[in-house]
Amino acid sequence: MGLFPENPEAFTDEIAELTERHLNPGLAKVLRFAGLGVEWYAEGCYIWDAQGRKFLDCLGGYGMFALGHRHPKVVDAVKRQLDMMPMPSKIMFNAPQARLAARLAEVLPGDLQYTFFCNSGTEAVEGAIKLARKATGRVKMISAVGSYHGKTMGSLSASGREVYRKPFDPLLPGFVHVPFGDADAVAMHFDEQTAGVIIEPIQGEGGIRIPPDDYLPRLRELCDRYHAVLIVDEVQTGLGRTGKLWGVEHAGVRPDIVTLAKSLGGGVMPIGSFSANGALWDEMFGENPLLHTSTFGGNELACAAGLATLEVIEQEGLVENAQRVGAKLIHGLRQVQAEYPDFIQEVRGRGLMIGVEFHEADFGELTITNMIQRGVIAAYTLNNPKVIRMEPPLILTERDAEFALQVFAESVAAARELVQAVLSGA
Ligand SMILES: Cc1ncc(COP(=O)(O)O)c(C=O)c1O
Repeated sequence: MGLFPENPEAFTDEIAELTERHLNPGLAKVLRFAGLGVEWYAEGCYIWDAQGRKFLDCLGGYGMFALGHRHPKVVDAVKRQLDMMPMPSKIMFNAPQARLAARLAEVLPGDLQYTFFCNSGTEAVEGAIKLARKATGRVKMISAVGSYHGKTMGSLSASGREVYRKPFDPLLPGFVHVPFGDADAVAMHFDEQTAGVIIEPIQGEGGIRIPPDDYLPRLRELCDRYHAVLIVDEVQTGLGRTGKLWGVEHAGVRPDIVTLAKSLGGGVMPIGSFSANGALWDEMFGENPLLHTSTFGGNELACAAGLATLEVIEQEGLVENAQRVGAKLIHGLRQVQAEYPDFIQEVRGRGLMIGVEFHEADFGELTITNMIQRGVIAAYTLNNPKVIRMEPPLILTERDAEFALQVFAESVAAARELVQAVLSGA
């Protein structure tokens, strides 16, 4: 675990102050208020802060820690690669990159034979939007209200929350946002000018929202009818998070482009990707193989992590574990909801992508603070502050889940008591 700092309180104050002065004053205040310390060490589903406090990680780095923290097989693969060639020359063949693309082609839904590697989810979405435009020669794209696809200019144009978009207007032209889960609304806006639809199979930051069963199949039909492309953003849902390898599998739909990031790096390296079939790839790279490039994209370290990650997910049965432990967690959370229906509105989710919607955002925030005090890290979804997300590592054991449930129940009870005391003027 290494040595903790000699004077952890002074160390924490110093880092908090540097964060306030040189990174983000507002965020530093929020973290201080929530009583959060400096992250120091992590292993499996747990994080320790510099003061030696231990936390069960139920946020999972916004869904990045599918394998937990520092999975030994991923760490080993990255260390081995580090001693050979960490970064690409960009001018020679790159073995980890080629092998990872081939492995993804085997496991991706449909015939998505080609992949481009980048370094984050937002870059993956940028690439997918460019590909859709280039392949169709059209600009108009349909996406969903409440969606989250990233915060660079292109992905932000697709994202569906005004508070993040408005300050940067004008964004990319041609984006239309329609209510999530409403295929009729998509149909109403579809026409011959539409390049495609970009959609999350389950909305993550929008508040863990599951669409009706016929939603994705109907979007597929519309894209086929208009010769447009269906981009499925699996950045958060991909690689087992929802209890299936791909979120889109729940709907049995074949996407044209899939974006991926978060889990692919095994919680050890940053990596993103977008994948498509040969015909689309030819439209993008047929004339100019360098039409879309990235200096760091496809680097050996990240691709070695990606290969090890896919192996671990399969060998350790993590998709099945997400399904099994996720069902237990959802069941337990629903029991707490049944006890406090005036406080918690709904519990929903698939696998280990779970949302708890409170009647008021404040109720959720108080609950989160209580959970942190009791040793469980959670946070709300970025586009829906009424919803606490539970996205722990897919290696979560039933015992970990029981601990999370116990802490959640205690935290809700304490938060509700406080709210009632305030309301009654006590
Ligand atoms: C569905 C989805 N797409 C894209 C992104 C953007 O990923 P990144 O934060 O790596 O840029 C996110 C991030 O939460 C996401 O959930």
